[in-house]
Amino acid sequence: MVETVSRRCLGEPTEPANIVIFGAGGDLTKRKLIPSLIKMLRCGLLHPKSRIIGVLKGRTEETWLESLYQGIRTYAPEISMDKAQWQTFSGMCRIVSGDLKQDETYVDLDAALEMIDGHCHAMFYCAVPPNWYGMIATGLKKMGLSDETAGFRRVVIEKPFGMDLESAKKLNRELQTSLDESQIYRIDHYLGKESVQNLLVYRFSNSILEPLWNRNFIDHIQISAAESIGIEYRANYYEKSGALRDMIQSHLMQVMTLVAMEPPVEFTADAVRDEKIKVLRAVRPIETEDVKKQTVAAQYGAGHIGGDPVKSYVAEEGVSPESATETFVAARFYIDNWRWQGVPFVLWTGKRLPRRVSEIVIRFRKPPFNLFDVQGNPPLANALVFRVHPDEGIALRMNAKLPGLTTELKRSVMRAPYAEDEGDISDAYEVLLHDVLTGDATLFSRADEVEESWKIIDPILQAWEDKLSINRYQAGSWEIEGMDELLSGCELGWHKPTY
Ligand SMILES: NC(=O)c1ccc[n+]([C@@H]2O[C@H](COP(=O)([O-])OP(=O)(O)OC[C@H]3O[C@@H](n4cnc5c(N)ncnc54)[C@H](OP(=O)(O)O)[C@@H]3O)[C@@H](O)[C@H]2O)c1
Repeated sequence: MVETVSRRCLGEPTEPANIVIFGAGGDLTKRKLIPSLIKMLRCGLLHPKSRIIGVLKGRTEETWLESLYQGIRTYAPEISMDKAQWQTFSGMCRIVSGDLKQDETYVDLDAALEMIDGHCHAMFYCAVPPNWYGMIATGLKKMGLSDETAGFRRVVIEKPFGMDLESAKKLNRELQTSLDESQIYRIDHYLGKESVQNLLVYRFSNSILEPLWNRNFIDHIQISAAESIGIEYRANYYEKSGALRDMIQSHLMQVMTLVAMEPPVEFTADAVRDEKIKVLRAVRPIETEDVKKQTVAAQYGAGHIGGDPVKSYVAEEGVSPESATETFVAARFYIDNWRWQGVPFVLWTGKRLPRRVSEIVIRFRKPPFNLFDVQGNPPLANALVFRVHPDEGIALRMNAKLPGLTTELKRSVMRAPYAEDEGDISDAYEVLLHDVLTGDATLFSRADEVEESWKIIDPILQAWEDKLSINRYQAGSWEIEGMDELLSGCELGWHKPTY
């Protein structure tokens, strides 16, 4: 099935491995895991002798494969496969039927794991709710399936990694009872995005940025993820989570560490993660009395998106009419170290906003002296924008002369979109699955990182504990009460990604 494709597939091919998916009948498997594995196989990144073993209950192999096939049609229509290609892929798949609670499931799994080329490499992907992670790790250990004598054994878990510091510690303890920390891959698909990875390449392979990358030149930084969708079918999870846990504690704080970290001594998993954790340790905790001043929380009301009416959060199926869960959150953090002292890092995210846009905006200090204020139109602070989604790429906003006889200024934007590059943009799950199979944990969170990030989030959650009411914003609008105050003193204020 390896074929010549127009995209460049960079990366070392994986060794043959057993890819075990717990919860293989679920949404993540259909939507992301199977399409990514097919794409990897097609461009030679996944070894064709690998096996995909779905652990699930209540289905036959035939009905499972049929649902995967339909999933590709729905979620990855760009994958065009003829019958022979599908047969090749489906021939690599098999199921182990059973309940995760029962020992027999792990006995059957053990029997299903084949030695391939004298090795039994295995990746165990937990595509199940987090309350099963500990039990799966125990089941693997009991059967000796986590033993690495015959080949690597790596376990992938999906966020949330706890709901607060205490539960995160408990989960880490449960996992580490059965597994070595080096076998645990905590996935954050955000870090698999090209533009997020490219941030490190921009920072550490160009000499022009690093001299400017500090408090002397940067006024503030905004890291954002705006979504136009609501909570979809996830009311049960979202009611307990809210935007702060769902997006800030994980994705956006991870991005903040990459923006703020010092150059690692080498580009290896532990060297990078050692630098990231130093950033988290330097984040100044927000004291209870400052939470109101340094955070904004709001919930969407009814409104319109793209001209279509949408209902309010509390009218969504499964949401309590009295819910005070935040669907928009912003927090202003400070990193107490030499490089960043006094520079605000504003992280914000929200649902049912006018557009789906995710960005890292580096706003520089304004010019120290205004030579061109002829028309009362002063030069604006420069900004370097990393667009994470959509239209991945970077843009540098500069002041330039408006053509003509007068000296008027205009905003000029130098753009470098990735789409014009030779290669194609890989899906984050392709990147991360490949990383697990090749043993590169650089983009995965370590236990101590997860705990440090909860230490920053917990005081905010505690200050909000008695939150009985919450400000509303209209779905499809950028009018969010408190955002202008939160960004007061920051050059040019809140960067709304309206273009
Ligand atoms: N879907 C996404 O795009 C996405 C994105 C990011 C993170 N995640 C995370 O990925 C994980 C899986 O998400 P998902 O959306 O795929 O959830 P899902 O659709 O609910 O799938 C979970 C699967 O786990 C199975 N399961 C639950 N209890 C079981 C048991 N006792 N024995 C055997 N199987 C059992 C379920 O089987 P039954 O259907 O038979 O109960 C179901 O197929 C979650 O932690 C989620 O937070 C998902």
